[in-house]
Amino acid sequence: MSLTPVPMLVDCDPGLDDAIALLTAAHFADLVGITTVDGNVGIDYTTRNALAVAQIAGLDVEVHRGAARPLADQSRGARHVHGATGLGNVELPEITRSVESEDAVGFIIETSHRVEGLHLVAVGPLTNVAEALHRDASLPERLEGLTIMGGAAVGGNVTAAAEFNIWADPEAADTVFRLGGDITMVGLDVTQQVLLRPAQVDQMSAARTPAAALAAELLDYAIDRSLELRGWAGAPIHDACAVLAVTHPQLFDGRRQPVDIELTGAHTRGMTVVDDRGSYADSDANVRVLRSADADAVIELIVEAVTAVR
Ligand code: BDR
Ligand code: CA
Repeated sequence: MSLTPVPMLVDCDPGLDDAIALLTAAHFADLVGITTVDGNVGIDYTTRNALAVAQIAGLDVEVHRGAARPLADQSRGARHVHGATGLGNVELPEITRSVESEDAVGFIIETSHRVEGLHLVAVGPLTNVAEALHRDASLPERLEGLTIMGGAAVGGNVTAAAEFNIWADPEAADTVFRLGGDITMVGLDVTQQVLLRPAQVDQMSAARTPAAALAAELLDYAIDRSLELRGWAGAPIHDACAVLAVTHPQLFDGRRQPVDIELTGAHTRGMTVVDDRGSYADSDANVRVLRSADADAVIELIVEAVTAVR
């Protein structure tokens, strides 16, 4: 962990793993804001869920509501993974917190002016980030980095070729991958190496704090869904990996490569096309593509984070 926590704004669509990512960011980074986007569930639910996480964990952080639908397509969701509300079958308390604004894009831009060294971590569809780039093309110049959970060098999860966050708004991803500046892609290649198992549910439950209890319930649900949908004995907590790739970069390996977003393929729309040939010009290598992680260390840090938050 770096000595001074890095300032981080998380753009998310909670989402089981998004919620755990927010807790991870709250512990290891200086979480300066949360913006919400349509994705795993609709914007009303993703926003409510972000507020719920902030409230339950006692986070002193603003939540700003963002895009209600992708740039070009209809909103689709991933309720079969995250449940009808996005947070599995967790019963939430009454939400007393409310959003600071309905202008996530404005908040992202304003924060980039105000906060030196800001890391933007986008763990949902890239609609808000693309709109921010459309509104202010100089945004990347003020960011320390843009880290994305999305895509894969090989394969997909929502289709054979595409990962959910990119597939859910490919036009937004195309804008971001072309114009987003210093991008790190934390794709399925990495996140599916990091499976959390029932032992981690037990560790979280044992902490007996509201945030850890929430995380334990979410993880338990994620493990059940992962077993049913993929036959895996554990669940990838994709979005927390993206947070840790910023706060603990030494645990991840990757290199800069050219990456394009497939927009038109009948079977490949939303695919991240990573050029593995090695014969490209450095100037074409627009994205740092992470390929591997120290899975045990990442799992330990996620548990440490969610059990440390109140
Ligand atoms: C990504 O898609 C969503 O369902 C998860 O929250 C994660 O951000 C994984 O493909
Ligand atoms: Ca997400």
